Amino acid sequence: MRFSLRLASNVVLYSLFHVSTIVEAAFSNNALSTCNDLQTRLGSKIVQLSSGAEYLAGATNAWDLFNTVQRPSCIIFPRNSSHVQTAMAGIFRDQVRYAVQAGSHSAMKGWNNVQDGVLIFFSHMKNISFDATTDTITLQPGIHWGEALNTLEPLGVAPMGGRITDVGTGLLLGGGYSYLASEHGFSVDALKEADVVLVTGKLVTATATNKYSDLFRALKGGANRFGIVTRYVVSAIHTGTNQDKNWFGGIVMYPNSSVEAVVNATANYVRNTKDPKTGLLVVLANVVVDSVLTASHVVTMFYRGSTLPSSIFGEFLSIPSTVQLLGPKSYIEVASSLGDGADRGILSLFGASARKGGPEQFLDAFRHWTNYTIAVQGSVNTSIMAFTPILDTQIVASRASGGNVINPPRGSYAAIQLETQLSPGVLEVPVDIERGRQLLFKQIPPSPGLPLYINECDASQNVYKTYGDFEFLKRTYMKYDPTRFIIRFSEGPIGL
Ligand SMILES: Cc1cc2nc3c(=O)[nH]c(=O)nc-3n(C[C@H](O)[C@H](O)[C@H](O)COP(=O)(O)OP(=O)(O)OC[C@H]3O[C@@H](n4cnc5c(N)ncnc54)[C@H](O)[C@@H]3O)c2cc1C
Ligand SMILES: *[C@@H]1O[C@H](CO)[C@@H](O)[C@H](O)[C@H]1NC(C)=O
Ligand SMILES: *[C@@H]1O[C@H](CO)[C@@H](O)[C@H](O)[C@H]1NC(C)=O
Ligand SMILES: *[C@@H]1O[C@H](CO)[C@@H](O)[C@H](O)[C@H]1NC(C)=O
Ligand SMILES: *[C@@H]1O[C@H](CO)[C@@H](O)[C@H](O)[C@H]1NC(C)=O
Ligand SMILES: *[C@@H]1O[C@H](CO)[C@@H](O)[C@H](O)[C@H]1NC(C)=O
Ligand SMILES: *[C@@H]1O[C@H](CO)[C@@H](O)[C@H](O)[C@H]1NC(C)=O
Repeated sequence: MRFSLRLASNVVLYSLFHVSTIVEAAFSNNALSTCNDLQTRLGSKIVQLSSGAEYLAGATNAWDLFNTVQRPSCIIFPRNSSHVQTAMAGIFRDQVRYAVQAGSHSAMKGWNNVQDGVLIFFSHMKNISFDATTDTITLQPGIHWGEALNTLEPLGVAPMGGRITDVGTGLLLGGGYSYLASEHGFSVDALKEADVVLVTGKLVTATATNKYSDLFRALKGGANRFGIVTRYVVSAIHTGTNQDKNWFGGIVMYPNSSVEAVVNATANYVRNTKDPKTGLLVVLANVVVDSVLTASHVVTMFYRGSTLPSSIFGEFLSIPSTVQLLGPKSYIEVASSLGDGADRGILSLFGASARKGGPEQFLDAFRHWTNYTIAVQGSVNTSIMAFTPILDTQIVASRASGGNVINPPRGSYAAIQLETQLSPGVLEVPVDIERGRQLLFKQIPPSPGLPLYINECDASQNVYKTYGDFEFLKRTYMKYDPTRFIIRFSEGPIGL
């Protein structure tokens, strides 16, 4: 708050940078009459107009402060897929703006909330069940990964999700990074079947082999552009119960004097690791404490086994650290090691890059990020650069289970997430931060041929263009939404 006065004359609304909305924004009708019509059809519990505690909780639920200020004309709280069908058919018929919210963690403005439109919010569709005969898990879209893990832990199985327990199923539509990825692929590679409400309101079930197999593939990485998923069926991963300490690892924290060695170790890990039983996440962070940049670097490392093999983790473990919390872990402990990530009230800006090669490629990105952080330290709260290794074993596993539209080339790389958090409560992005971020994206582009990650991108980044299956994705989008309604009437990734 201290900085906001100083910056007051120097702020612009972040929406100015959302070029995508300017390019294809359509004239939209007032959603209020659509809402009234839907309320008549579905009742006032399922369709809530702008009053009441549940409406307000829904409208302000989003993780990113950016997405808590919009006030939809109504919120649909579906109990089953036919409610979503009715809502989508009305939205399409009346040409009104809309948004969908599942786990609420998108950091992109307007991707999970909408001003004066219809919000479909899955807070009442949180079923999860395991079918031992097909070895699959059925999820409704409203469940969060932590809830999913807790429910299924006694059965010794888990879906592939994320690494923070408050995150939800929207993660699947963008791909999904979990600690199981090196062995089993992107989280969405486990998808077996999806119920999808198409733009017209028609409900279809898509699988890898039925007449909707193109839609099925497009959903694996295509994000929110292909319809509204009301049911996911995914392969179960046999992770064990909470009594089964099938993993070893945990958290290591490093002082800033070790940071370049950690970046080098990350590059070497990505280049050299061939063992799929590994999981690693490197989070480099600078927090402004009493006006001083303070480093807070956390690495989580896991191995499915009884130790961290020194041939894989030795370099990390030999670097001077401040905290080491390592030991035997169940999968649920692995997936909870960085906490729930549920804290709200902060405006957070994401951005994506990706790198492969040796330490110099990683240090280059790190140094540009450091300079960015120093340049904007007067107006940020936290600046993060995180590396997620995408090992070749993950790509092989992905292809073996049918692959997805991200379709990276063979070979290991690291996805890089750039995250900037403003001070609590600050809702406007200072110009220096926005300029600095756009410069940083130019300074550290992905290594040639590597895809960006849509779930952690900036809204200005054309992620689809970096996908292996970009042409397929464009064709498939035109087939399922020939009037481009979804792109014109809801926010989401640019480039289709
Ligand atoms: C603290 C934090 C930690 C994270 N950790 C990880 C991680 O470990 N691994 C990882 O891969 N990602 C991670 N992410 C990124 C995460 O994948 C994305 O934020 C993802 O979009 C979250 O999905 P959600 O359901 O929680 O969010 P939402 O914002 O509800 O949904 C995300 C997007 O998908 C759309 N959507 C959601 N459900 C549906 C549906 N059923 N049908 C159609 N469209 C839908 C929404 O409209 C929105 O555009 C993290 C993000 C945060 C903020
Ligand atoms: C959805 O719920 C409604 C009650 O609100 C019920 O009438 C309808 O049959 C249900 N539809 C499905 C597909 O379960
Ligand atoms: C959701 O779970 C409950 C309890 O297990 C069950 O009664 C209900 O039929 C389930 N609904 C769906 C749509 O799976
Ligand atoms: C990191 O790697 C680079 C390139 O291999 C090397 O020059 C540098 O000394 C290393 N730095 C540290 C701190 O290990
Ligand atoms: C951390 O170390 C790097 C050098 O490796 C330096 O550039 C940066 O300014 C340091 N950050 C902090 C917060 O001290
Ligand atoms: C970062 O800033 C320092 C000091 O201004 C400069 O010497 C260095 O070249 C910059 N690094 C990069 C990668 O631009
Ligand atoms: C940064 O955020 C932390 C936690 O929310 C808060 O305690 C601290 O005061 C903030 N600092 C600034 C400069 O906003």
